[in-house]
Amino acid sequence: MCRSVYGTVGRAGGVPVDMKKLWAAPVAAVGAVAAHDLLQRRHAILRNFPVLGHARFWLETIGPELRQYVVAANDEERPFSRDQRRWVYASAKLENNYFGFGTDNDLEHGTGNVIVHHRTFGRAYPTHGSVGQAARLPAAKVLGGPRGRRHAFRPASVVNVSGMSFGSLSGNAIEAINRGAAEAGCLHNTGEGAISPYHRMGGELVFQIGTAYFGCRDEEGRFSLPRLKELVASAPVRALEIKLSQGAKPGLGGVLPAPKVSREIAETRGVPEGVDCLSPSRHAEFDDPDSLLDFVELLAAETGLPVGIKSAVGDLGFWRELTDLMARGDRGVDFVNIDGGEGGTGASPLIFTDSVSLPFRLGFARVYREFAMRGLHEQVTFIGAGKLGIPDNAVVAFALGADLVNVGREAMLAVGCIQAQKCHTGECPTGVATQNRWLAHGLEPVSKGERVANYVRTLRRDLLKVSETCGVEHPALLGPGDIEVLDTLADGRLLDEVYGYEPGWGFPSAADREEIVRIMSATDEEETRTEGPPETAEDGPAGDEMAGDEDPL
Ligand SMILES: Cc1cc2nc3c(=O)[nH]c(=O)nc-3n(C[C@H](O)[C@H](O)[C@H](O)COP(=O)(O)O)c2cc1C
Ligand code: SF4
Repeated sequence: MCRSVYGTVGRAGGVPVDMKKLWAAPVAAVGAVAAHDLLQRRHAILRNFPVLGHARFWLETIGPELRQYVVAANDEERPFSRDQRRWVYASAKLENNYFGFGTDNDLEHGTGNVIVHHRTFGRAYPTHGSVGQAARLPAAKVLGGPRGRRHAFRPASVVNVSGMSFGSLSGNAIEAINRGAAEAGCLHNTGEGAISPYHRMGGELVFQIGTAYFGCRDEEGRFSLPRLKELVASAPVRALEIKLSQGAKPGLGGVLPAPKVSREIAETRGVPEGVDCLSPSRHAEFDDPDSLLDFVELLAAETGLPVGIKSAVGDLGFWRELTDLMARGDRGVDFVNIDGGEGGTGASPLIFTDSVSLPFRLGFARVYREFAMRGLHEQVTFIGAGKLGIPDNAVVAFALGADLVNVGREAMLAVGCIQAQKCHTGECPTGVATQNRWLAHGLEPVSKGERVANYVRTLRRDLLKVSETCGVEHPALLGPGDIEVLDTLADGRLLDEVYGYEPGWGFPSAADREEIVRIMSATDEEETRTEGPPETAEDGPAGDEMAGDEDPL
């Protein structure tokens, strides 16, 4: 009966059937789906895995029902819970990011739940904000102002993108983030991998100086001031950040393995192509707080830019010595960026990600206190990172005295990361954390850039709304007395008690407070007008289900 697999003639109910024809329709259908998947630009996962990628969306769709019976609750997934990711995805796509039916946090039995104390009456009151509302939210402090840096400036956004290098992220992911930063008017930190062509899409930069001095090193790998000045002059760099350590791998250097050191990465970093690219664990230009401050002042004097440090928090000896030296008044950092131990990385040994350096709240509060005890807290801009791209975490950071929050992995979620946690393998399925050309090509930077901008705007909007709910005009005006940490239903303590803050700590100076109130009051109605989808008067955005869940890419 058989002539060939495709040419077989069989019989169905006595009627001859041409097997070629039988195969033709499904094969054509699959071909059409594959062609569509390859050509569309909206979903990276479908571009990278045509046809097969649909299974993921289907599994996502039935996920909530499945999980109700078998797998995890909405708050169980880590590092970012399902609810947190849903919020980022929906915000990034300007879709309904509301939640229905009430909280699924266990307020009755859980410990550590954070409660914001709203005020019944206050100076400011919230208007009804919707997804994507363009809330203007500049910093309450002028970066570099107190130390009189030539290019001191007021950051236009309290939410900015955290350092993630070209090398750990793909060129397309960097481009999307930079485009998004330009659109949302926020700063994009380069990470330690220098400034690539993908960083030059219009977004303003904070240039990070890591231990390997990528982008500003000589042939021997030593720091080169002329190269730094050349680089800074070639791009919209607004500030310099000296990286001392990172929450997910403090005190540890890094290696970009030879196969990943492409010509593009080699040119960007100023290293040889195809050779292991090493970041030492310590800086060669300074070896204690005293020589660090000399380096800070050198960079500030030579470039005119504000200069700060990024660090995780462990031993407090460094901070005590640093603040003692700064209290003399002649030298100082313009900003301090504290990275929590819960922060992310491209790759790190388990012991470092899990157990080295304090989580953000504890580490930040301890460092802030060292500055505050010496009367330095109003002169320094405090930045925080460590899951602060989720509104309730960000609110706590502001109440503890942060002036800006940096978002790392949340920005990755906005460009399409699905938390597959394969960043260290180079096989990121969404093209975010990979140098594989095929995988990276799936990530379309223009539309994903819009998502980054939408997400940043929405986070700013939520921060503004929660501040207004507390009767103040700006999150910097929230203090540690505005937030309570619960211990089941039996007890609750305000942040100032939990972290040992004295009265007046956690706020900008009186002059800065007055100025930010003036700025916020002068904000044009246009700038805070609703831009998102229409909403009903009382029920939040139209649409009956939380969007973003089924379609994160
Ligand atoms: C893929 C990846 C690459 C990173 N690269 C850097 C880097 O080059 N320099 C740095 O200081 N931090 C780096 N970080 C840490 C982030 O900047 C940030 O401090 C940390 O992830 C906490 O923020 P998040 O919780 O919002 O992600 C990286 C993080 C990730 C996930
Ligand atoms: S999708 Fe997975 S591998 Fe890619 S960036 Fe996100 S967590 Fe990393």
